[in-house]
Amino acid sequence: MEGPCVVVSPRSLAIELALEAGRLLRERLGHVQAIRYKGEINLVTDVDLASERLILHRIREEFPEHAILSEEQPASTEVLRAPYTWVVDPLDGTTNFAHGYPMFAVSIAWLCEGEPYIGVVYQPMLDELFVAERGHGAYLNGQRLYVSTEHVLRRSLLATGFPYDAERRRQAVRDFVHFIDVARAIRRDGTAAIDLCYVAAGRFDGFWERELSPWDTAAGVLLVREAGGMVTNEAGEPYRLGDLVCVASNGQIHQEMLAVLAAAQHQQDLHDD
Ligand code: IPD
Ligand code: CA
Ligand code: CA
Repeated sequence: MEGPCVVVSPRSLAIELALEAGRLLRERLGHVQAIRYKGEINLVTDVDLASERLILHRIREEFPEHAILSEEQPASTEVLRAPYTWVVDPLDGTTNFAHGYPMFAVSIAWLCEGEPYIGVVYQPMLDELFVAERGHGAYLNGQRLYVSTEHVLRRSLLATGFPYDAERRRQAVRDFVHFIDVARAIRRDGTAAIDLCYVAAGRFDGFWERELSPWDTAAGVLLVREAGGMVTNEAGEPYRLGDLVCVASNGQIHQEMLAVLAAAQHQQDLHDD
């Protein structure tokens, strides 16, 4: 007689893999054996690759018909149009990890026709598991999450990040200079996936960043939306994976944030003319 048929759901698999890969990252912190450069400063370690292998192997085993977009695997973003797609960042915060700075995460999202339905981000050093399911809310270690209620940018704690590319960094610095004048404070913690989860958890009131990739944002964006927040591009349109700028907030300070970005852009345009 055959044993009972155990059906794995994308949600349970995403959670299981985030925890398992997170354990691997925790164990290997301080033991990076190989570093390869993808650009002048953008690196990838043997641990990114080990985490990715672990995650993709199981996804392929359980859902062979689903498409995968994962940071260290060459694939076109066309796969985001597939009926079902897994979007994976096996180690968000590689630079932190390589330096022994204990702020990094595993980010796994499951998309249905390009829309995130499941988002899981795990920070192994704090044992914090963020899980969101479309229409069913966002949770941190089982506790429901809500964005903050701050409605004044001047009293807000924001987060951002900077692209690896030097030319593009200059634009990001310009935005930063505008925000530092009008916010309470700004953090730069080197992991966009966690930045977004912290907006969902009300720890940050807002976050913005240029040039992020789908694997950085796919899970975190769902967390923010399911916690009652807002995520758009710089024009205020709903953020879509691959958009140039990601602006996430509690909703209350969103228009103010967009206005700051517009002012920074305006100044840049004057400078370019
Ligand atoms: C990076 C982090 C960082 C952000 C960079 C990302 P990685 O991802 O999310 O916070 O500023 O733009 O590329 O390379 O550590 O996976
Ligand atoms: Ca990343
Ligand atoms: Ca990564």
